[in-house]
Amino acid sequence: MTQETLLTTLAGMRDLLPDEVERWQYVEERARVVFGRYGFREIRTPVLEATELFARGIGRETDIVGKEMYTFQDQSGKSVTLRPEATASVVRAYAQHAMYRGAETARLYYLGPMFRHEKKQKGRWRQFYQIGAEVLGSDHPAVEAEAIEMVLTLLEELSVDARLLINSVGCGRCRPAYVERLRQELRSVREDLCQDCRRRTEMNALRVLDCKVESCQPLIARLPRITEDLCEECRLHFDLFRKYLTLASIRFEVVPRLVRGLDYYVRTAFEIVSGELGAQNALVGGGRYDGLSEILGGPPAHGFGFAMGLDRLVMLLPERVASSVRPAPDLFLVHMGEAAFEKALELARILRREGIGCSLEFGGGSLKSQLRIANRLDVRHVLIIGENELASDRYIVKDLTDSSQRDLAPEEILGYLRGK
Ligand code: HAM
Repeated sequence: MTQETLLTTLAGMRDLLPDEVERWQYVEERARVVFGRYGFREIRTPVLEATELFARGIGRETDIVGKEMYTFQDQSGKSVTLRPEATASVVRAYAQHAMYRGAETARLYYLGPMFRHEKKQKGRWRQFYQIGAEVLGSDHPAVEAEAIEMVLTLLEELSVDARLLINSVGCGRCRPAYVERLRQELRSVREDLCQDCRRRTEMNALRVLDCKVESCQPLIARLPRITEDLCEECRLHFDLFRKYLTLASIRFEVVPRLVRGLDYYVRTAFEIVSGELGAQNALVGGGRYDGLSEILGGPPAHGFGFAMGLDRLVMLLPERVASSVRPAPDLFLVHMGEAAFEKALELARILRREGIGCSLEFGGGSLKSQLRIANRLDVRHVLIIGENELASDRYIVKDLTDSSQRDLAPEEILGYLRGK
């Protein structure tokens, strides 16, 4: 028979193996706890949505919609897309289920995989995970400061250092005039712009500000700043937003060239970045998106939110935190011979029902080889069952952390382990 080639994951996609998954679960659990304290409740939306949702929501001229979506026709001929982000889905759900009926603002969070067919780069995946939060139904700038405080609290609890960058991208009233001014300036230096920026000048001029090409940087530095062109309402909103950040003792940097890769933002836009991430330095991105609900056919609704890249967050976990999250079984049962094996199965069954984590090696093997496995599993206690132990019905339980050991009857084992 010919040897088949081994099938592996697609480019930009990966398996998360148990060691890694435990770190992820730790981060997810901390996020649920912190977000819960701020009154956020989880929402789960489908991974597959109508392509139209993202085309309208994120914007047809964006890189995400133009180049990066996993889009295909389903069996009924409908164009469907694996979600590249979840804000459009959450706003759709908010409108679809009339969640705006309650008087209170809706505070929702989500967690799950997103899909973007991006160029491969460190920290960039084609299936990646986000933890995100959205507040719907309020245009108060304090909502923005509070959501940012929440995500910074989570990062602090995880011992991850990062910087907050903020900007205002204006609104439907003040932005068009600014974009036109920008376009005029860009046309005058067209010859010196990179290929992408020449295209962006006509299609989506704001995105030029985000260009990373070296030769464009001196030109970008001379472009007008949107913060100088804000209308009165946007200026006031931005002032208040900064006031609430300051009241919460949150440090920030105003970066007038910060623009985001999705078209739905108005007024506040922000990112949380970490130098340790390299070129793909954004850990969190978000902002205000009043008007998105109407674009999706829903009622007028204010919205603000963010999403954090979970893949990147896990990369930033300090080793001290990361190595402490592995849950070890409480007890490893070493057994010598068939009768001892049966006893080990029985004791494990009883102890597990009482909430004690137990593991044992089915193949048996020598005392030495079983102890080696126990060490590798990082267990705290080992219980040894040999002929003598079976005969006396008393068992040695050894604490591997300090090598102390106790000789116990079966009914004493549970109490001993619980008392540790
Ligand atoms: P975004 O900036 O496109 O915003 O993504 C947010 C975060 O997801 C990024 O800062 C990054 O950490 C992570 N991320 C994005 N693409 C990748 C990738 N290819 N590989 C790994 N991580 C990635 C949004 O998605 C908006 N929906 C955020 C938002 C929520 N705005 C308002 N509400």
